[in-house]
Amino acid sequence: MLTKLFRWVRRVVSSRIRGAFRTAQRTIYNQRVPLKVLAARRNLLMGTAVSYTALKSSPLYVRTLCQEYNLIAVENAFKWLTLRPERDQFAFEQGDFIVNFADANKLAVRGHPLVWAGALPVWLQKGAFSKDELAEILHTHITTIVRHYAKSIQIWDVVNMALKANGDLSESLWYHALGANYIDQAFQWAYEAAPQARLFYNDYNIEALTPKSDAVYKLVKGMLERGIPIHGVGLQAHFAFNHHPAIRDITANIDRLGQLGLEVHITECDVSAPGMIRASASGKRQILRAQAAVYHDVMAACLQSKYCTAFVTWGFSDAYSWQNNAHKPFHALPFDEHYRPKPAYYGLHSALQESYHSVL
Ligand code: G3I
Repeated sequence: MLTKLFRWVRRVVSSRIRGAFRTAQRTIYNQRVPLKVLAARRNLLMGTAVSYTALKSSPLYVRTLCQEYNLIAVENAFKWLTLRPERDQFAFEQGDFIVNFADANKLAVRGHPLVWAGALPVWLQKGAFSKDELAEILHTHITTIVRHYAKSIQIWDVVNMALKANGDLSESLWYHALGANYIDQAFQWAYEAAPQARLFYNDYNIEALTPKSDAVYKLVKGMLERGIPIHGVGLQAHFAFNHHPAIRDITANIDRLGQLGLEVHITECDVSAPGMIRASASGKRQILRAQAAVYHDVMAACLQSKYCTAFVTWGFSDAYSWQNNAHKPFHALPFDEHYRPKPAYYGLHSALQESYHSVL
């Protein structure tokens, strides 16, 4: 009897303590300055990729998004697979919903991507089009979309992931049909459709100093010398809690691109933590701390260069991440699946705060 009573008291007390701890955490979170406010003090846009499904269905998703961010990237709604179901058909529904949401909530938008070898519809992949037909298809695509969103979207990833790890051009559909010139051509067409927009080349594994980032440097330098309208480079920054480049190398890479006259965005940052699934409680805490340090360092690398003008994570809640699948939640983002800020969130937050104090 006494043991039962003791267990009951222990259960009640520990649940009260847990409840009080959660309330205290929420109070601290509610009282802190949002990421977008801290970032704005350093003239940095704070962004996240958005999921159309989550935006439509989760009020908590929307609330957290609007509270912390002032820039959104369109994760999938502008991909050919979504937007161009047939050669003569554009499906603007998802894109329009996201862009109207952004306009209503005063969020800037990164349009992504106009040209990519991934997420292509079957009609395009299997179409056996001639060079001229593909050029026409691409021209129509870029012109139609960029014009459709000209009022709301001022930043476009015009070409996404066009290079291999060794820096050579990937042998994509576009490359095969149109040759190396397709990149210049795509930027030129995007510029003609919206001369005021800022046009980016976006890729992964080009954050620091590597053969691939050397190749991107050479590519964009050549474009500028040829008078091609390119304004920036997007560094995707998909990292892991135990694997990421040195901060000084990221900053050095941003600086060399900036010195060409380009701006740089961190466009898809996330820090995967696959080990979380099997780790013990203390192992989980260690992984979350390591993940927070990576977010902190990548943000610090961006803040150390005056050319880094936006920091975007590829989603913000572990509830919606491209890295997740049914068996592998990768816990890669700054908020957990219940929209509670993780140590990763505070990693970003403290990097922003430190940098503000250091420039005062
Ligand atoms: O919407 C369908 C759903 O109806 C279906 O039931 C489900 C079954 O698999 O698939 C859903 O579509 C998936 C879509 O994401 C939405 O979740 C596609 O299969 C899946 O391929 C697609 O993956 C996206 C991937 O790009 C390919 O387009 C990821 O969400 C997206 O985060 C990812 O983003 C890329 C960037 O564009 C470029 N840089 C790398 C980054 C990560 O791969």
